[in-house]
Amino acid sequence: MAGGAYAEEQALQGRTLYYEHCLLCHGETMAGMDKAPPLAGPQFENTWSGAPLAALVARILSMPPEKPNTLSQEQSVAVLTYVLWYNGLPLGDAPLPSAPDVLAKVVLEIPSRQ
Ligand code: HEC
Repeated sequence: MAGGAYAEEQALQGRTLYYEHCLLCHGETMAGMDKAPPLAGPQFENTWSGAPLAALVARILSMPPEKPNTLSQEQSVAVLTYVLWYNGLPLGDAPLPSAPDVLAKVVLEIPSRQ
């Protein structure tokens, strides 16, 4: 995906949702805990690099495991942008669209860390 595919406001909304719905299991630094996998770092990158964003949104929609679809499609995309921000993807001016057909065409590329 090209740089700047999401907006700051969207990622901030996503952070609020993340703290409310995801923090407990995936942790403040997205390192994961117990059975919950990390949402940032090498393992996350190995799993998701090259995947369409639609696949990641589908996993977010399946969360939390015991209560899937707690978040709407739009909220899940906002959480996704907070995850993207945490993984070092640059902010842009326009929000990432939440339409599934658009997300199916955007492939996740995580910038390499120095
Ligand atoms: C009650 C604990 C819990 C909560 C809350 C939770 N998760 Fe998870 N999550 C898990 C577990 C356990 C797995 C792995 C097993 C599974 O997929 O069901 C997982 C898997 C994932 C995966 C797949 C990761 C990978 O690399 O395979 C993603 C993405 C994810 N969660 C995102 C989220 C987001 C975003 C939220 C908040 C909306 C959230 N989770 C809330 C426990 C949780």
